[in-house]
Amino acid sequence: MSELESYFRGLAPGSDPLLAGLQQEAAVQGIPIVGPLVGRLLQMLVQATQARAVLELGAAIGYSTICLGRGLGPAGRLLTLERDPVLAQRAGDNLARAGLAGSCQVRQGQAAEVLPGLEGPYDLAFLDIDKAGYLPALGHCGRLLRPGGLLVVDNTSFSGSQDFNQALREDPAWLEAQLLCFLPGHSPERDGLALAVRA
Ligand SMILES: C[S@@+](CC[C@H](N)C(=O)[O-])C[C@H]1O[C@@H](n2cnc3c(N)ncnc32)[C@H](O)[C@@H]1O
Repeated sequence: MSELESYFRGLAPGSDPLLAGLQQEAAVQGIPIVGPLVGRLLQMLVQATQARAVLELGAAIGYSTICLGRGLGPAGRLLTLERDPVLAQRAGDNLARAGLAGSCQVRQGQAAEVLPGLEGPYDLAFLDIDKAGYLPALGHCGRLLRPGGLLVVDNTSFSGSQDFNQALREDPAWLEAQLLCFLPGHSPERDGLALAVRA
């Protein structure tokens, strides 16, 4: 590892015992999670936008959900969707361990089935489901986010991501920026993250 790379790796934020335990659990069980750097970024984005209504697509064991939930103010609410019933249960348990059960709700189900029945407005949405589901979910995110609301999309460098990225770039409903950068501790490295504001 180069000196520069080690330096940047050393800048990744630390984790409290709860998140560190979930990172360990995810690593052992092969569950992809955003990790400490993007987790910190999610918390900051919720805080900075003062989002009161947050939607997450793809909870897994609730790692990113906890990060988002920690950014919420006292009146804030979060809904996360997770299709796997066992993971949805684990995410709910972990949110309770984080003291966030009152503000953050897990709904078990397929995004394609749940999203049409949801009503906005949401202030921030985080998209992290199966990559084939990104493009169909984009229209729903556009419908559910308020004007000025923020969409955060993980893993925008996935294989086959071109259609999704092009749609986000070309649709006048979005002002987007791709952060295609080296993200220490993120998976896989040299992956991308997109931010897009609803026009
Ligand atoms: C990358 S993981 C989410 C990781 C989580 N956001 C984190 O960083 O801690 C993707 C999760 O989305 C769920 N998922 C995938 N496709 C889905 C869909 N179409 N609807 C709902 N959940 C989905 C998977 O079961 C998996 O747990």
